[in-house]
Amino acid sequence: MRRIAFINEKGGSCKTTLAVNTAAYLAGLGQRILLVDVDPQGQSGKSLGFYVRDLRPTVFDIMMDDTLPASAAIRASHIEGLDVLPANKHLADFPTDAAALTDREHRLAAKLDTLTEYDAILFDSPPSLGLLHTNILLATEEIVVPVNLTYFALDGCAEIVETIETVRERFNKPRLEIILVVATLYRPTKLADEILLRLQSHFPDRMAKTVIGYNVKIDEAQSHGKSIWEYAAWSRGAHLLESLAKEIIQLA
Ligand SMILES: Nc1ncnc2c1ncn2[C@@H]1O[C@H](COP(=O)(O)OP(=O)(O)OP(=O)(O)O)[C@@H](O)[C@H]1O
Ligand SMILES: [Mg+2]
Repeated sequence: MRRIAFINEKGGSCKTTLAVNTAAYLAGLGQRILLVDVDPQGQSGKSLGFYVRDLRPTVFDIMMDDTLPASAAIRASHIEGLDVLPANKHLADFPTDAAALTDREHRLAAKLDTLTEYDAILFDSPPSLGLLHTNILLATEEIVVPVNLTYFALDGCAEIVETIETVRERFNKPRLEIILVVATLYRPTKLADEILLRLQSHFPDRMAKTVIGYNVKIDEAQSHGKSIWEYAAWSRGAHLLESLAKEIIQLA
């Protein structure tokens, strides 16, 4: 079973977009996929048409309650083969509520370890580093880092590389690694091209060949609670997200 997390501490770098659409693509190939939302914004669930605001139980409940199995919070999405473990704003309480628990960093991994029915588990992550991230890093093995090509993009990359190294050593997880760095929201400007070049020289072996250009259909699809293939399969955005999903598949 593959476990792939989409992580970048910078907000708006397309973590949710890539997690949801990659999950939908893999499910479309006939795989059984679980998408775990570990962001209090709950946008993975929202992107698939769930009204997450009042949802219980969620990923927060299974992480806090020893008696609740992960299956209690997992819901089938409208896409065949794609299940979701949703989040909502309650998850923001996790760092405080779990502070006294000695296994607080392992709560998510422990619950997911009992699941055997999936071909892959994908994780959407919140935009700030902390206890939720540590839980994701201990539950995953592969990491995809989406990078919005803006001036501060490289700052976020340096942070995540450092965090991963710390977690790998502190928790003895030698297999935890960045498999791909993906440039997102690309527009053909001099600054974007410069940042792209710097990223490529920073991650020569791990830079995705696919550069996700700006395409409004991607945004629209999310606002309709649909994957890009349901909403606009013919669009440039769909082709780009498919190309990226294929790169991720090839890295298995
Ligand atoms: N290629 C694209 N073209 C146009 N809009 C896009 C594209 N990719 C993502 N978006 C839009 O950009 C916004 C930010 O994307 P997304 O929510 O995936 O980022 P995020 O990293 O998950 O943000 P956060 O850190 O807040 O969780 C969303 O409204 C999304 O629909
Ligand atoms: Mg998000």
